[in-house]
Amino acid sequence: MNRQRVAVIGLGPIGNRHADLYKEMDGAELVCVCDIDRERADASAARLGVKAYYSVPEMLSHAELTMVSVATGGVEYGSDHHEPTMQALGAGMHVLCEKPISNEIDKAEEMVALAREKNRCFGIDLNHRFTPAARLAKKWVDEGRIGHQLFMNMSMWIMNPRESSPWFQIKALHPHTVDIMRHFCGDIEAVQCFATKAPGRKIWSTAQFNMRFTSGAVGHLSGSYDIERGHPMERCEVAGVNGRFVIDDMWREATLFPAGDPVKTVYTNPVFGGYRDFVDTFRCRLSTFVTQLNDGASPEEIDGSGADGLAAQKVLAAAIESIKGECVVKVER
Ligand SMILES: NC(=O)c1ccc[n+]([C@@H]2O[C@H](COP(=O)([O-])OP(=O)(O)OC[C@H]3O[C@@H](n4cnc5c(N)ncnc54)[C@H](O)[C@@H]3O)[C@@H](O)[C@H]2O)c1
Repeated sequence: MNRQRVAVIGLGPIGNRHADLYKEMDGAELVCVCDIDRERADASAARLGVKAYYSVPEMLSHAELTMVSVATGGVEYGSDHHEPTMQALGAGMHVLCEKPISNEIDKAEEMVALAREKNRCFGIDLNHRFTPAARLAKKWVDEGRIGHQLFMNMSMWIMNPRESSPWFQIKALHPHTVDIMRHFCGDIEAVQCFATKAPGRKIWSTAQFNMRFTSGAVGHLSGSYDIERGHPMERCEVAGVNGRFVIDDMWREATLFPAGDPVKTVYTNPVFGGYRDFVDTFRCRLSTFVTQLNDGASPEEIDGSGADGLAAQKVLAAAIESIKGECVVKVER
């Protein structure tokens, strides 16, 4: 059986989560961890029983690896993804990188281009599409149960009080929602966005987006870094001429409403064997990448690819231009 030899780069809460998940995975062996912060690297290495490195080039020249997980962060949660991703792809590794692919479009372009040049698999942790409910809804779309698509409504909100760049919420939260929108309804060609600042905040912490898909369908997205926990966090609705589906909270429930038929199909997350919490979205996303690699998938076949991560950031860049100019903006292709 093929087995990926994995390193995790960046050992904050999310990198440690990645490392824990590789450690428990049959199809992967966690070989080492790497952080420029020696204390973080040493603490994770000791906890996980693997070697610590403090520099990505040094790790790549010494450790025998087949893939790396990049869980660095930085400005807008994305400025530190480019360097280790380029180094790892350059050394022939497959890479799974946290979202956003990068906070800068030209850097994200370089990452996707290098993965292509090196013929390496490059995935982004777009974990919200990796749930049984989302997979079922995708099957409904593919089977024609929705039919010609008309509209989509998407929303996601959490509390994130961090004050950084004005565009933090848009660039760092909405890779997830825009990916879900593209996943079900295809490319987005135009965007209009209004945003607001919650009391005491300096950043555009809540936003509403209108989208037009290349298919002609129209979409709407609400998002916020201002909503305390306790409410449902995510909702996705897609309507077409043959039916409509709603996914509540990523994995909790998916409902298909067939057109002209009062009998609904409802999937509810089962108590036994169902998703327990948000960590399961990471578990499924990471293990899907590893399984695809072990099964010899081609870079184009990667579910939640670097190209998907880049396309989402381009939609978000257009939304930012829309806020600045108070106008509708075409998405750069
Ligand atoms: N997919 C999700 O649902 C989800 C949820 C939360 C956060 N995230 C993402 O996870 C990422 C990490 O978040 P976090 O809170 O763990 O970040 P963090 O800032 O706590 O940790 C990042 C670590 O990366 C290290 N680092 C930076 N550059 C490095 C380099 N070149 N080589 C080695 N180490 C380097 C830093 O020293 C730091 O320890 C972010 O990009 C964030 O957007 C994803």
